[in-house]
Amino acid sequence: MTEVTGPIRTERLVLRPFTLDDAADTLAFESREDVVRYVPYGVRDAEENARQVARRAEQTSLRERDDALVLAVDLDGTVIGYVLLILRDAEHRLGEIGWILHPDHTGRGYATEAARALLRIAFEEADLHRVFARCDARNTASPPVMTRLGMRREAVFVEAVPFKGEWTTELRYAILAREWRAAAEGPAVRAD
Ligand SMILES: CC(C)(COP(=O)(O)OP(=O)(O)OC[C@H]1O[C@@H](n2cnc3c(N)ncnc32)[C@H](O)[C@@H]1OP(=O)(O)O)[C@@H](O)C(=O)NCCC(=O)NCCS
Repeated sequence: MTEVTGPIRTERLVLRPFTLDDAADTLAFESREDVVRYVPYGVRDAEENARQVARRAEQTSLRERDDALVLAVDLDGTVIGYVLLILRDAEHRLGEIGWILHPDHTGRGYATEAARALLRIAFEEADLHRVFARCDARNTASPPVMTRLGMRREAVFVEAVPFKGEWTTELRYAILAREWRAAAEGPAVRAD
């Protein structure tokens, strides 16, 4: 089992489990149509948001299929988004990763920084073999994050997914544990 109980520090952020106190910060972005346009739920009101924050506060471990590890992205004490890792197949050690940021905090590399820390957990702690990410083909903000993480574009499923009342085209990206390790080690240094 993989579990996150305490904060994980990155260069500029803290990733940590949600607490009930995070509802107001979270509502600030989950209530926005532009934020949830390409995620699998609609805008949230205060009541639904509080329920989901309470649920996320318990999503701190990966044990069996479809368990989600959800971490708040905390910038100087404010939750500006979250990242999540879902165990899609325990036997095949397959995970799925995703991210959401408040638009006030995009364009600074925070999603990539947070997702990179989550990929480290995926490969080094959860011992996954492969992690994929997917997005609506119209979501132009997400593929660059995947590319920055070293993920490879593997598939375009044309009008394959019924999503918010229409058939949508889905892009899939993935990275393997050995690719992650090779990138983490960096290019070989010549001795001469
Ligand atoms: C998808 C989403 C997380 C992308 O956020 P983002 O801030 O663009 O992504 P990153 O954290 O990788 O930031 C990259 C940007 O920061 C810039 N940047 C600035 N400083 C940087 C740094 N130190 N490191 C990396 N990038 C940096 C990059 O140049 C890039 O800017 P650009 O978009 O103008 O090219 C965000 O748009 C979002 O939450 N969307 C709504 C929810 C959603 O759709 N989620 C995904 C569902 S599939």
